[in-house]
Amino acid sequence: MICVANVDDIIEDCAKGLEVNNFYLIAVKKDSQVYLYWNRCPHLGTPLEWEEDRFLDNAGELIQCSTHGALFRIETGQCVAGPCQGQYLQSVPFTIVDGLVMVEDHLLRAPQPL
Ligand code: FES
Repeated sequence: MICVANVDDIIEDCAKGLEVNNFYLIAVKKDSQVYLYWNRCPHLGTPLEWEEDRFLDNAGELIQCSTHGALFRIETGQCVAGPCQGQYLQSVPFTIVDGLVMVEDHLLRAPQPL
């Protein structure tokens, strides 16, 4: 398992970009739950953030793609508006061990899923 973040470093109602072994992820904390996705829009595969650690819409309710504005539910990754409506951000399986977000090694070594 590889540690990708400390849970306490992810601020409630905020998102954080993560880079591990040249793999890019986004972590979001909402209602004390952590959500983890590959940092890649299902529309064109571009990174999502507007600027460093800025992934959410103005209301802080949805993840918003900076390229064409698609909006995704934080809890499921489902796109609810925009050119990839109905598609999903791809979640990254993880476990929390002693306050650390841990991801299986092979997910951060193999080519990223499309
Ligand atoms: S690349 Fe994200 S909405 Fe087009």
